[in-house]
Parts: sequence; C-alpha cells; structure tokens
Amino acid sequence: MNNAVEIRDGVAADENVVDAAQAILADLVAGGAALGWVDPPSKPEIATLLAKVSAASRVGDGALRLAYSGDRLLGLGYWLRYERPTHRPNADLEKLAIASDAQGMGVGRLLTAALVDSAREAGIEVLTLDARGDNANALHLYRTLGFREYGRLPGFVAVGERRYDKVFYMLDFRA
Ligand SMILES: CC(C)(COP(=O)(O)OP(=O)(O)OC[C@H]1O[C@@H](n2cnc3c(N)ncnc32)[C@H](O)[C@@H]1OP(=O)(O)O)[C@@H](O)C(=O)NCCC(=O)NCCS
Repeated sequence: MNNAVEIRDGVAADENVVDAAQAILADLVAGGAALGWVDPPSKPEIATLLAKVSAASRVGDGALRLAYSGDRLLGLGYWLRYERPTHRPNADLEKLAIASDAQGMGVGRLLTAALVDSAREAGIEVLTLDARGDNANALHLYRTLGFREYGRLPGFVAVGERRYDKVFYMLDFRA
C-alpha cells in the first residue's frame, strides 16, 4: 500500500475532501473509534473543523495532511498551535484517522510522520497529543515515532458506563 500512498497538504480542503473526511470519521466513530466523538460527526461539523484547520495552516498555526491512493482519501490528521498565549510555541496533534479498510498497511505511520515533519518545520517546540488508554495501535505508532508519555488520567474518558484512561504524549523538538 505504501508505494501507492501520497500525502497531500490539505490547506485548500474543498467540499469533496469534507465529504470524504466525514465519511471516514463517521464510519470510524460508529465502529467505536476513540476520536473524541460519541456520535458520528455531521458534514457541517467536519466542514467547520476543516475550515478552522485550513485557516490556521495559512498563518503557520496548523497543518492538515491528507493520505490519498489515487483519488481516494484514505485518511487525515492535523495539528493546531495552542491558542493560549503562553503555550503558543507548542501544538497539539488531533483526529488522526485512517479508513477502516486501509488500516494496518502503513498509511497512519506515513501520515503521522508527515505531520511531525511539518510541525518541526513550522518551528513547533513541543508537539502533544492525547489518546484513549486502550488504543494500543495508536499508542504504539506514536511511541515508535518518538513520542513519550508524560501523563495519564485514570478512568477519565467516559463512554456510557465504561471508563478509560486518558494518556498524554509529547514529542519535544528541542530535546
Ligand atoms: C490508529 C491509526 C491512525 C493507525 O493508522 P494505521 O494506518 O492503521 O497504522 P499503520 O498501518 O501505519 O501502523 C502503525 C502501527 O500501528 C499498528 N497497527 C495499526 N493498525 C493496526 C491494525 N489494524 N492491526 C494491527 N496493528 C496495527 C502496527 O503495529 C504498526 O506498527 P508497526 O509499523 O511497528 O508494525 C488507525 O488505526 C485509525 O485510524 N484508528 C482509528 C482512529 C484512531 O484511533 N485514531 C487515533 C486517535 S489517538
């Protein structure tokens, strides 16, 4: 799969990207993926989210990366600089998502590596992310790209009656 996969800058995400991204995210959330939504996100919600990331990326405050195989969107992810003035040198990586039938083939690794590269090139000092404690594949992926755990809130994530740890990872480009 790797050879056919292309990582593109999503700064000009159009309606086709919104539709394809919403389909991927809604399908993953419906299947129980730990992406921060309980119910599948709607198209207007994804349109608003991607517009916000695109606007941030135009001024160096974020980056949206899209993984394609030909014309098919396989996945997406983005980072955004923290808004709090004292946290501005740093950014948070969010909503990394690969279509369920394209998982386990190296696409997520390529996409995450591209996001890490773009954050480093933008001069970000510390790139953070958080993940649900049971998301072993994602946590393994992040660790093997250099992230390390800096904190954990036990039983913090509530999904119905179930409780999961919230795990915090960081990649310090100054180190
Ligand atoms: C987590 C996710 C982004 C990883 O993307 P991916 O394309 O499936 O991952 P890759 O194929 O690049 O594999 C990366 C590593 O994760 C592991 N992995 C990922 N998916 C796997 C799967 N379905 N089965 C087994 N291992 C898997 C692999 O061991 C691999 O490590 P390796 O290269 O050392 O063998 C993707 O599975 C996903 O979208 N999951 C649902 C949404 C989600 O949880 N996002 C992260 C929120 S923090």
